[in-house]
Amino acid sequence: MSDTSRTTPQISAETPQIAIIGAGIVGLGIAWRLAGRASVTVFDRGKAGAGASHAAAGMLAACCEAEPGEEALIALGRDSQARWPAFAEELLRASGVDVELRREGTLVLALTADDQAQIEHLLEFQRGLNLPLEWLSAASTRAREPHLAGKIAGALYAPEDHQVDNRKLALALRIAAEAAGVVIHEERPVKEIFVQGGGARGIVLEDGTIVPADRVVLAAGAWSRGIGGLPPDQRPPVRPIKGQVLCLRMDAAAPLLSHVLWVPGAYLVPRRDGRLILGATVEERGFDDTITAGGMLTLLDAAWRAIPAIEELQIEETWVGHRPGSRDDAPILGPGPIEGLFYATGHHRNGVLLAPVTADAMARLVLDGVVEPAIKPFGLERFLPAQAAE
Ligand code: GLY
Repeated sequence: MSDTSRTTPQISAETPQIAIIGAGIVGLGIAWRLAGRASVTVFDRGKAGAGASHAAAGMLAACCEAEPGEEALIALGRDSQARWPAFAEELLRASGVDVELRREGTLVLALTADDQAQIEHLLEFQRGLNLPLEWLSAASTRAREPHLAGKIAGALYAPEDHQVDNRKLALALRIAAEAAGVVIHEERPVKEIFVQGGGARGIVLEDGTIVPADRVVLAAGAWSRGIGGLPPDQRPPVRPIKGQVLCLRMDAAAPLLSHVLWVPGAYLVPRRDGRLILGATVEERGFDDTITAGGMLTLLDAAWRAIPAIEELQIEETWVGHRPGSRDDAPILGPGPIEGLFYATGHHRNGVLLAPVTADAMARLVLDGVVEPAIKPFGLERFLPAQAAE
């Protein structure tokens, strides 16, 4: 590695050198946006895009998942959702990869009157925020999705909650970033942030190599808390939240579903190539990556109650991902008390949705020192003792 050294870091005064820890869609997106104005190097403990970015379902659900108490997060999600079409187009031009932004929207299915009452209760709050959501009768729902079960109560329609193919997104960001000059080091785990004189001066790899940098971005997803070199309270409070997922194979010419579909207990995300992603469990089991009969049964049963015809489909793939969950389920975006260190982690269920706003706002912050209003509520300081946050 030509850009690493075992000596005390020597920093170039002209082009800022930026080290990013984590080559998922968050780290790669920031790297892409920084490229051209900085010398950017990204390090990952495994393969680029192989963590939560690979495991996700790619839903851009800013509206239908909106819950009371998450008003700031909902605003951030809506902001990012609005950036998505231009982001996808720019990425296509830069990488040649179509991330397949599908615009059918999302349906939240009510099988029973009880499901409907629950959805309508939440809808009252969501309407208060002017979120674009519409209740559909059973007949209108079935007109949109003819393969739904015989007895349904209706569905909530979220016309702006779309989806992208998250695996293509990770690939596109990698290609775009590298084409713009970003250097990506895979299977080079970072041990700690190199802190000297009160500032981040680079990173230290597991093998002891010191990589000098003017600024460091911590974007290691569920692994962010394990990066050393920081006082305990400045390690981001992020933990892995296990999700089991499976993929069924539909006939791409005659798919069983076209919208993203939430059913009680699961969601289904149809891809253009006929894959049908079925997710996901939410489990507090650390980095356990076991696929369990119970996990699969729960997802398949929930999906089957909504679309019985899935029982004919082949199971193509099963996998486990680890969402980076923060203490309040919202991301951690911003500077911390250590000068030159920036946090972009804790995206929990919303990494794909929040990719554009995270990339744009973090690049602005890292290069220009500007905290955009959109990310202001999401600084690490909300988790710090009052004194340290000042
Ligand atoms: N965003 C979907 C999930 O976390 O399962």
